[in-house]
Amino acid sequence: MNAEAGTSTPEQTTTPAPQQVSVEQRAREEELVTRVVESFAGASDARLRQLMQSLTRHLHAFLREVRLTESEWQKGIEFLTQAGHITTDQRQEFILLSDVLGASMQTVAINNEVYGKATEATVFGPFFTQDAPLIEIGGDIAGGASGQPCWVEGTISDTDGNPVPGAHIDVWEADEDGFYDVQYEDTRTAARGQLFADDQGRYAFWAVTPTPYPIPHDGPVGRMLAAVGRSPMRASHLHFMVTAQGRRTLVTHIFVRGDERLTSDSVFGVKESLVKDFELNAPGTPTPDGRDLADSAWSRVGFDIVLAPQPT
Ligand SMILES: [Fe+2]
Repeated sequence: MNAEAGTSTPEQTTTPAPQQVSVEQRAREEELVTRVVESFAGASDARLRQLMQSLTRHLHAFLREVRLTESEWQKGIEFLTQAGHITTDQRQEFILLSDVLGASMQTVAINNEVYGKATEATVFGPFFTQDAPLIEIGGDIAGGASGQPCWVEGTISDTDGNPVPGAHIDVWEADEDGFYDVQYEDTRTAARGQLFADDQGRYAFWAVTPTPYPIPHDGPVGRMLAAVGRSPMRASHLHFMVTAQGRRTLVTHIFVRGDERLTSDSVFGVKESLVKDFELNAPGTPTPDGRDLADSAWSRVGFDIVLAPQPT
């Protein structure tokens, strides 16, 4: 904080409500905002200029609205410092922070505008990998991951209802214990795969029934969630990424109807249109492809995907 801020310690700082700020004080604060905004006026990149000037206005509006104390400012700096220290190639605390603030989801919403009946997008998450095993339609992505078998089937079409043959589908999910394969201690690949829709836009595969899991919560973001009484748990879900020529790439999940965490998903990823019925079948119930699951119960879900056109 500014060393010339005076002799008051953070504890002595008063926090007047905005309406209690004098005209002179308000003028002083607004003059600073103006000067900082104007400091970016010379940026040759117009978009960068817009971003920095808008960020300045909103940041100062926040500081002034809450009348931030110097000790709170210090805590904020410490929080961001801790987030930096825990961040590695495998652990991105700033994305986590963006996620729990809803900033990731808002960015997804802005960049996936409503288009007809196009399937809604949701957060990408940190667990996608490029090299998922390629499976045939009807194949199994589990790859040894623990969990109840789940048959997933559906179609891929455009917003006029025409099938999208050959669309590429990536799917990935946590195992029954809530872990993605990249979190395993070894290098196994499990609970992820890629496949192509057939010539009528149909697809199907075996996976495991999704279960809830927590986002990493042993760092500053987790401590913040605990401090405000929020759960780190994500609602049970199965990730999809669907790409096709001339279509907007869709990154989404499907969620399990009845999951009690649908209304408290820690990253705000749930959309009602993405909540699906996972029909539970008792052991011995014949499977769609005749697969013998011995004495295991299994679930079945349908997910028809509608792709928007590629933005021009
Ligand atoms: Fe996930």
